[in-house]
Amino acid sequence: MTTVHERDWVALEHQYYQGTFKRLPLTLVRGEGVRVWDSEGKEYLDLVAGIAVNVLGYCHPAIIKAVQEQVTQLVHTSNLFYNIPQVELAEQLGKLSGGMRSFFCNSGAEANEAAIKLARKYGRLHRNGAYEVISMHNSFHGRTLATTAATGQPSYQAAWTPLPDGFQQVPLNDLDAVKAATSEKTVAILVEVVQGEGGIWPTTKEFMQGLRQWCDEQNLVLICDEIQAGMGRTGTFFSWEQYGIRPDIVTLAKGLAGGVPIGAMLTGPRTDLFTPGEHGTTFGGNPLACSAGVATLKTILEEKLIENAAQMGAYWHEHLSSLCSKYPIIDSPRGLGLMRAVHVKHELAPALVERAMAHGLLLNNPSKDTIRMIPPLTITRADLDQAAALLERALQDVTASVQ
Ligand SMILES: Cc1ncc(COP(=O)(O)O)c(C=O)c1O
Repeated sequence: MTTVHERDWVALEHQYYQGTFKRLPLTLVRGEGVRVWDSEGKEYLDLVAGIAVNVLGYCHPAIIKAVQEQVTQLVHTSNLFYNIPQVELAEQLGKLSGGMRSFFCNSGAEANEAAIKLARKYGRLHRNGAYEVISMHNSFHGRTLATTAATGQPSYQAAWTPLPDGFQQVPLNDLDAVKAATSEKTVAILVEVVQGEGGIWPTTKEFMQGLRQWCDEQNLVLICDEIQAGMGRTGTFFSWEQYGIRPDIVTLAKGLAGGVPIGAMLTGPRTDLFTPGEHGTTFGGNPLACSAGVATLKTILEEKLIENAAQMGAYWHEHLSSLCSKYPIIDSPRGLGLMRAVHVKHELAPALVERAMAHGLLLNNPSKDTIRMIPPLTITRADLDQAAALLERALQDVTASVQ
């Protein structure tokens, strides 16, 4: 049998995999809790968690058990038939969302595509054929053409023009701009309650409540993209719960099945409009992914991980604030729950990620001036104390390099 050491995985990747990703030079082979090991056996404390996916950490026994059991029963059936894990997962999400009904797919982009299609159907039926979606500058909603058009970052859009018609962006937290952009063509407002990929920027309560009121007054659909901020990460199961509003449509993905690919589009009664055949998917909602989803939700509730996310988030913010006052190359600690970021001066975020990795800490920089931290919801105080110590060593290195 070939062992992980015997082959040059990076060279093989370059030979056989398309050049889509800018990767760090690290091949991960095993994980447990908040820690992963690379092909050389080196251990890392991981604050990236598969980009907010591994909400229960690596190899949580509940996910292992659910997947192992399901794989011996039924991996896939198609949506021509009913399957029990799909119904169970939809039931759990229905209870958590105050009665919304689910549609399952395989990714966040697909969940947002479904939401956009549903909003267009609403426009056709209830707003004279309106179809336009207003989203926010600096947002991220996926890589399909429609979700690229909804994503408010020109760098993701420039290469793919012409993008589908019917999307425009306005500044985050600017209700007047939303109102000014609304026309008879507008059908929906799409918003991340806490922007993730854009650098962890929470919306304000006034903005979210203003959006809700504007949607009610103008007969618009409010879509909350909870793909990164949902699943308890911000200290409530859905981040909008902290804002005193209820969206019409919610999208989820990332952590929903603890690492097994899945997406979901949830809707309340006003927009529950799809009829058989109008939208669909081959894999979406398959028993394997849904059984992992059921186990993930059950574990989040049983292990009180939403409360843990709120407490550990506040604790990590204290660490980040004190590191910011000690090391001037970082500032602006921000975020909600276990969705955190700091600003890094002089575009040194990639250098900080590299030094942290050398010290055994995995971080992510969505841009050259931002470090994002989105660890498993299972993380403990002791883990965060260790993470702070490792981050401090990386900060010392990077500070020394610019002096
Ligand atoms: C808020 C948000 N929406 C949508 C997506 C797209 O999800 P996926 O990569 O699963 O298509 C992401 C992914 O980072 C995201 O953070």
